[in-house]
Amino acid sequence: MIEHFSLDGKRIPFQPGQTIMDAAMQAGEYIPHLCHNPEFRPRGSCRLCVVRANGRSVAACTSPAREGLEVESDTPDIQADRRSLLQMLFVEGNHLCPACEKSGNCQLQAVAYYCGMLAPDFTHLYPVRELDGSHPDFVLDFNRCILCELCVRASRDADAKGVFGISGRGIGAHLIVNAPSGKLGDTDFDPHDRAAQVCPVGAILPKHKGYDVPIGRRIYDRKPVSLVGDVADHQEDMS
Ligand code: SF4
Ligand code: FES
Repeated sequence: MIEHFSLDGKRIPFQPGQTIMDAAMQAGEYIPHLCHNPEFRPRGSCRLCVVRANGRSVAACTSPAREGLEVESDTPDIQADRRSLLQMLFVEGNHLCPACEKSGNCQLQAVAYYCGMLAPDFTHLYPVRELDGSHPDFVLDFNRCILCELCVRASRDADAKGVFGISGRGIGAHLIVNAPSGKLGDTDFDPHDRAAQVCPVGAILPKHKGYDVPIGRRIYDRKPVSLVGDVADHQEDMS
């Protein structure tokens, strides 16, 4: 017998073992998320997918679906919390959207639009971060990394390479490249790696091409993230 829970009043079927996020995605219901990709084991790090399940705040991407659970996601207070989280992500890094090649194809930007974030209410930290242009085919821009760990998981679990890692904790956490030099060019990172395709922002960008698809005609320029889904599933639309 198929079990169900409710999401903002809608009946969502699920299989045993599925999370709230898995079942919602399968039913075509969007819960904002950044660090989740169904291909990889969930990390639960961005907290954007936090919903209220029977009155308790839980991450939808790590919480199992249960029969009769009443889940709230699209409420004014939960969306306000998401806007605050998004604002923090924008001020912690250097996200200069108008000058970014990923604009319009960026999941962070798209989720921010979806959640109604208009401007950050916090002071920009403007951290000083390096750019790694050492790889012949890819540039790594640490300014835009939101520490979702998707490249870490993809390189380790799909590519069996372990090119990326996270070092440090809390505000000191940062992305690293697993090479003695710390440079992407000194790894076996390859354009065909899954890790080359999963970054939701413009932190891992291909070289030798830019603005192939004009601004205004990109993935999230055409439809909101709630209808289009994750940018990692739309590589063909970016070239
Ligand atoms: Fe996530 Fe991209 Fe940063 Fe990797 S480089 S942790 S995929 S934001
Ligand atoms: Fe669930 Fe990031 S998508 S915590």
